[in-house]
Amino acid sequence: MNKDILVIGTGISGLTFAIKVAEENPKLSLTLISKRDINEGNTRYAQGGIAVVRNLKKDSTKKHIEDTLIAGDGACDTKVVKFVIEEANKRLDELIQWGTAFDKKEEQLDLGIEGGHSENRIVHYKDQTGKQIQEVLTAKVKSFSNITILENHTLVDLITDHHSKSNMNRCYGAYVISQEQEEIIKISAKITVLSTGGAGSLYAYTTNPSVATGDGLGAAYRAKVKMDGLPFVQFHPTALRDKIDHNVFLITEAVRGEGGKLRNSLQERFMLKIDPRGELAPRDIVARGIQKQIQEQEDDFVLLDCSEISKEQWKSHFPTIYNICKSIGVFLPEDPIPVVPAAHYFCGGIIVNEHSESSLKGLYAIGECSATGLHGANRLASNSLLEALVFAHRAAIDCIKSLSEPLPQKSFYNKLPEWNGDDYSKNFTIQNVKVLRKQLQEIMTKYVGIFKTDNGLKLAEKKINNIYVTVQSLYNKNKLTNGLCELRNMVSIAYLLTKQAQEIKENKGVFYNQNYV
Ligand code: SIN
Repeated sequence: MNKDILVIGTGISGLTFAIKVAEENPKLSLTLISKRDINEGNTRYAQGGIAVVRNLKKDSTKKHIEDTLIAGDGACDTKVVKFVIEEANKRLDELIQWGTAFDKKEEQLDLGIEGGHSENRIVHYKDQTGKQIQEVLTAKVKSFSNITILENHTLVDLITDHHSKSNMNRCYGAYVISQEQEEIIKISAKITVLSTGGAGSLYAYTTNPSVATGDGLGAAYRAKVKMDGLPFVQFHPTALRDKIDHNVFLITEAVRGEGGKLRNSLQERFMLKIDPRGELAPRDIVARGIQKQIQEQEDDFVLLDCSEISKEQWKSHFPTIYNICKSIGVFLPEDPIPVVPAAHYFCGGIIVNEHSESSLKGLYAIGECSATGLHGANRLASNSLLEALVFAHRAAIDCIKSLSEPLPQKSFYNKLPEWNGDDYSKNFTIQNVKVLRKQLQEIMTKYVGIFKTDNGLKLAEKKINNIYVTVQSLYNKNKLTNGLCELRNMVSIAYLLTKQAQEIKENKGVFYNQNYV
C-alpha cells in the first residue's frame, strides 16, 4: 500500500489532523489505522471537557496561561503554553461548526471548573465530552473519499533508514498487522503521523481503555526518535473503587468542581490540611493526598461526598456516572462514592516542535504520545483535548507544506522491503503474554507509581529487564500477534521510563521520589 499520509491512531488528534488535510487538499491520499474500531481510544472516555477562555468578563488568556504554568511546576515551555491558549477559541469554534454539541446555560456555553483552574472555563457535554467529539469527528472523517480507514490493524514498527538501507533520517511509513488476515503488511507513506495516545495500561489501575499500550511510543523508541519526560505519569485522583478491575471508571474532576468533597474513613475532609485549594488543588497534589490517606487508614479507598450536588444536577450534568454508581448500589447524591487514584495521562512522550514534527523527518506525533512542552511536569485538567486540536491543526498545515518539498521518488517507496520476519504458523504466546503483562503492571504500580524510591526504581529496572528478555525471546520465536506487539511496546516503555526516573533528582509536578522530599 502506497499513501501520501499514514495516520496511526484515531482519537481527537488523528481524526482532526486527517479532516484538515483531506479538506485542504482532496488530491492527497490518507490511510487511518485503528487498533480496534475507529471509536475506541482515550478520547471517547474523556469526561471533563476542553479548557477554553470564553467568559472574558471574568477570565482571560493570561489567567489560563498562569494556571497552566503553575500546574506544570516550572517545566512548561512558555511559548507553547501561550500559543496553545491563544489559539483555543478558533479550534473550539471549528469543532462546534463541525457539529459538536456542548452544554449551554442561558444561550452561552456552560463553563465548569476543575483542579488548578482559577476560573470556570471547562467547555463540556454532560459527562460525555469525549464521546460526543469522537462521534462527530468519526462521522466527518468517513465523508472523505480520499481517506481509507483500516480498523483492527496494529502498528508493528516504523519504516526507517534501517529497513530501506538509506541515510535520509526519514520515516517512510510503517509495518502493521492486519488482525483479520493475520499478516503483516507494509504501508509506505511520505508522511507518517503517530496519534497513538499514552500507556496507562502499564499500571494495574488505569482510567484508560486497554488499547492504551504505548504502541507509538514503543515504535518511536525503536526508531531512535527523541523522547522525553516519560516518568511524568499523571494519576487521576478519583477513579471508582467498586468497579475496580484493570480499567477503572473515571469520576470526572468536574464533580469536585461542582462541590464534591473528599473524606477519609473518619469522615474528615483531609485535603484542606494539605493544600488551601482543597479538592481543587492540581491533581498531582490531590492524588498524592489520597494515596497517603489510603496508606494511613484501613480502607483502601477514600470517599467522595457529593451531597452538595442535587439529584437533578446529577441526572443532567453527570448521567453516566449517576447510572454507573446506581448499578453498583451507590445512590447519588446521598451515598458517597468510594474512589482511588489511577494512572491517567502521560505528560511526556515524543519530543516535537511547534508543528508537531518529531526528530525523525516525515514523522509527526500529536496528542498524548507527544511532548510539546505544554504540560511540563503536570498537565492542567482539560488541557489535553485542547492540545490535540491545536497541534493537529498546526501539523496539518506543516505537513501539506512539506509535501511540496523534494521527497524520495515513488520508485524508492515501491522498493521498500516487505516485513522480514519468520513465518511461524503456530502461536504459543497468548497465555504467556497475559501473565507477563500482569507482572509488568504489578511492578510498575508497586515501584514506579505515585510514590517512588531510589531502591524501588533500581529493583524495578532489574525485574523489567527480565521481562524484556522473555518478551524478546517470544517475539523471536512466535507468530506476531496484537497482544505480543502490545507487550513488546509496554515493556520497552516501562524500561525507558524507569531508567529516566532514576536520572531525576528532584520532585516536580507528578514526579515524586520519597528520597528527595
Ligand atoms: C476529568 O474529567 O477529570 C478528566 C479531564 C482531564 O483529564 O483533563
